[in-house]
Amino acid sequence: MMGSGTTVLEAFLTGRKGIGFDIDPLAIMISKVKTTPLKQEKLIRQYREILKNAKNQVNQETKKLKQILLAQWDLKTKQFIDYWFVQEIQLELLALVLQISRIEDEDIKTFFELAFSAIIVTKSGGVSLALDLAHTRPHKAKVVLSRNGKIIFGEKLDKNKFPRLKFLTKKLRSPIEEFEKRCIQNIEGLVNTNSESIRPEIKFGNAQNLPIESKSVDLIVTSPPYASNAIDYMRAHKFPLVWFGYHVDELSRKRKEYIGGEIIANINYEKLPDFTSKVITDISRLDSKRGKILHRYYSEMTRTLREMYRVLKPGKAAIVVVGNSIMRGKDIKIQNCLADIGQSVGFGVPKIGVRKLDRNKRMLPAGIETNTNSQIQQRMYEEYVIGFYKPKNSR
Ligand SMILES: C[S@@+](CC[C@H](N)C(=O)[O-])C[C@H]1O[C@@H](n2cnc3c(N)ncnc32)[C@H](O)[C@@H]1O
Repeated sequence: MMGSGTTVLEAFLTGRKGIGFDIDPLAIMISKVKTTPLKQEKLIRQYREILKNAKNQVNQETKKLKQILLAQWDLKTKQFIDYWFVQEIQLELLALVLQISRIEDEDIKTFFELAFSAIIVTKSGGVSLALDLAHTRPHKAKVVLSRNGKIIFGEKLDKNKFPRLKFLTKKLRSPIEEFEKRCIQNIEGLVNTNSESIRPEIKFGNAQNLPIESKSVDLIVTSPPYASNAIDYMRAHKFPLVWFGYHVDELSRKRKEYIGGEIIANINYEKLPDFTSKVITDISRLDSKRGKILHRYYSEMTRTLREMYRVLKPGKAAIVVVGNSIMRGKDIKIQNCLADIGQSVGFGVPKIGVRKLDRNKRMLPAGIETNTNSQIQQRMYEEYVIGFYKPKNSR
């Protein structure tokens, strides 16, 4: 659950050996790029090469690109692509991804795959027809304008019927131009890392079943998905991932492995300690489906805390950062439930800290005003830092 790699980067910058796992391909990419010392001049040479070749291909080999587009994906993935990307955009994206796939140096290739992904998953300006991929369920633009402002579709929409039409309108941008901007930004933003530092191990891994030896870790620092309203990472991440060859069905299957999901069928529900069971019973009385979703979450976190306990050396600690969640108007006391579960697997819980988050730093979905009375917004400004300790004499 390393996400964007904050912990492994800190380990890398402080000369410690970091190990990071996640099940999300983009999380792996971001964390790898953040902890890989890369030479700026090499990256500059490479992105200019990508741009030059991609532009040539779009201008001189459109027919060939169109043939590749037809043959590239299974039907369902092709339908997904045609729904969310207009053809002129598809041609440029394909030209870019073909150039990136030719890069032999894996570290440099990952750097440009990340830049490519970042021109798709953005708050408003991405090259897909989605309005805001970064924060909300993908909504398709109602009105789409070409790069020179000509309406591609949605012309007949009546402003009176759609008062928020401005928010539902999207002007296409050239992926090649956006990619250039993003490369410059990412190259300038490269953290100056000392290449002597110990490169962290960054791998795919399910937190509920970690491919790590028992009693081999000195410290764990992580922030799992939240209980309800867990960010559905795959919902947005599939938009760039299909360009790297993933099929939508495969990504939907993967989505089921994410902790905090809402599918309640075929779940391995754990027997939970009293305090946590009581919280679930209270929620189930209000809403049985929500109760099941919460039972799923705490079952997944039980397996995750059990794994943390197994891999930690005796006398060592795990720090877990979580935000609180409100379900059906009820506080689900996530910090107390995780502490309860932690104790049931053998941990001591010396302290639970509260971290106030700077309201001004939290970005809200497009068009949403700040409203301090709203429960979802309250939840977004406070996090709990739970300290778990594995006793020295533990077996
Ligand atoms: C809240 S984010 C972590 C954010 C991270 N602390 C950071 O600094 O960016 C939670 C992460 O858990 C990952 N995740 C969800 N279910 C997982 C599982 N079963 N195994 C491993 N990682 C998982 C998600 O992909 C996501 O990257």
